[in-house]
Amino acid sequence: MLAIAGCLVANIFSAIHLWTLLLAALTLLLLNDYLKNRHPKNYPPGPRRLPFVGNLFQFDLDLSHLHLGIQPFVKKYGNLISLDFGAISSVVITGLPLIKEALTGMEQNFLKRPILAARQHVFKNNGILSSSGQTWKEQRRFTLMILKNFGLGKKSLELRIQEEAHHLVEAIGKEKGQPFDPHFRINSAVSNIICSITIGERFEYENNQFQELLKLVDETTCLEASKSIMFYNVFPSIFKYLPGPHQKVFSNWEKLKLFFSRMMDSHWKDLNPDKPRDFIDAFLIEMSKYPDKTTTSFNEENLICSTLDLFFAGTETTSTALRWALLYITAYPEVQEKVHSEIDRVISHGRQPSTDDRDSMPYTNAVIHEVLRMGNIIPFSVPREVAADSTLAGFHLPKGTMVLINLTALHRDPKEWATPDVFNPEHFLENGQFKKRESFLPFSVGKRNCPGEQMARSELFIFFTALMQKFAFKPPINEKLSLKFRMGVALSPVSYRICAVPRQ
Ligand code: HEM
Ligand SMILES: *[C@@H]1O[C@H](CO)[C@@H](O)[C@H](O)[C@H]1NC(C)=O
Repeated sequence: MLAIAGCLVANIFSAIHLWTLLLAALTLLLLNDYLKNRHPKNYPPGPRRLPFVGNLFQFDLDLSHLHLGIQPFVKKYGNLISLDFGAISSVVITGLPLIKEALTGMEQNFLKRPILAARQHVFKNNGILSSSGQTWKEQRRFTLMILKNFGLGKKSLELRIQEEAHHLVEAIGKEKGQPFDPHFRINSAVSNIICSITIGERFEYENNQFQELLKLVDETTCLEASKSIMFYNVFPSIFKYLPGPHQKVFSNWEKLKLFFSRMMDSHWKDLNPDKPRDFIDAFLIEMSKYPDKTTTSFNEENLICSTLDLFFAGTETTSTALRWALLYITAYPEVQEKVHSEIDRVISHGRQPSTDDRDSMPYTNAVIHEVLRMGNIIPFSVPREVAADSTLAGFHLPKGTMVLINLTALHRDPKEWATPDVFNPEHFLENGQFKKRESFLPFSVGKRNCPGEQMARSELFIFFTALMQKFAFKPPINEKLSLKFRMGVALSPVSYRICAVPRQ
């Protein structure tokens, strides 16, 4: 009897082939994936998710094309669409009413940033850009205060930008009207403004260490939108062992952190508590107010991460916008001519432009707004996360859902813009006067909008106007300018060359 039973068991076991076992394991995994990622009732509609990967493969993977890629879905599903990146559930909000309802009407529920593995790896919950909760509140309030103080302080922001504009004009003048790529000179000028506020100094454009920093920022901006970062975010436990651009991103961030960590040390050495020179000094002074480091976010890690956030966000976006501006103005000579004549009429040649001129220069102001609309630098804003179960447009959004704002849809909405896909400053003009547009949110809205908006606007106006005052921009003979964008967390023009011909 026993022998027969033993034989039976052995037979059953041998019948179970390896592949049967695999099939069983797969079924279990699928079931687990299904149960874990099942959406609740009344969840926003969206394309059907595939097991494990969600909607990852249903559109062009790199984020830089996502803003163009899923047109049919938008038509089909409406203004609130769900998309799953592996196990990361997200919704995309389209249209001004819904954007405002979420980011201003129900803002308490939408102030968080999602915890994405790649960001988490570098920043944890530190700094201002990726943090949430108490840390974010403290870091954000402190940053706003410093930006305001240094803007109104002894050497006003305005004066810093004017001085820097002078250096930029000089550096570009050295090209003597010959074709050149303005990329890193523009980045240097823009970055010097945030550098003077954060670390108290500007750099010469030829400074090697400075150029290395700017190259790191540029490269990281590009690689942050790579498939490899996307995969790391979705499958971190696998991808942390694999080589690829995500590893390069991590080492770039470490290099940038090291730079600001050294800056912190050198500031510490010659700190005068009565005379803060810059953001780092002010932060060190704030830190010394809290002997118990467990109750505050004013510690060394946050000093480094907040300074780096300001440096990164303050460098990349604004210089990208300025590079778009030179490109568009060169591609549209009739627009350039009108800017030149407005400058000649209002400022003439003798003095430097200032932000006070903005009100008397509606055309130039409209051009800068149109550059931000068409440039569409941050197409999905910066992701947010639903902090508590919410209802939006009648749909249920569970706590933890990632929220993307489709700014492209807003800035290219055919119902809002006369020529949505064509550069046209008239969008911001009415009877020759500047016209504000509601459907224009390049800096996002609400309590967590861009804290650098005023600074960026002053920089764009003064740098752009100063360059246009001194130069006529022309395409190199026999070279065609492309208005195509390059992939990255900020959409920038592909590299181009132009000629800056002196005007006087
Ligand atoms: C044309 C230039 C710029 C554009 C288009 C831009 C756009 C944006 C956008 C869309 C956000 C996300 C806001 C949200 O989640 O609702 C943001 C956040 C941020 N920006 Fe800007 N920005 C620009 C310039 C600057 C400058 C010059 C600074 C430096 C002071 C800066 C610092 C930041 C910081 C620190 C955040 C994170 C804020 C937070 O999470 O609380 N930005 N920006
Ligand atoms: C965002 O809007 C653009 C323009 O309407 C559209 O082509 C794109 O598919 C949208 N993307 C998402 C993810 O909703």
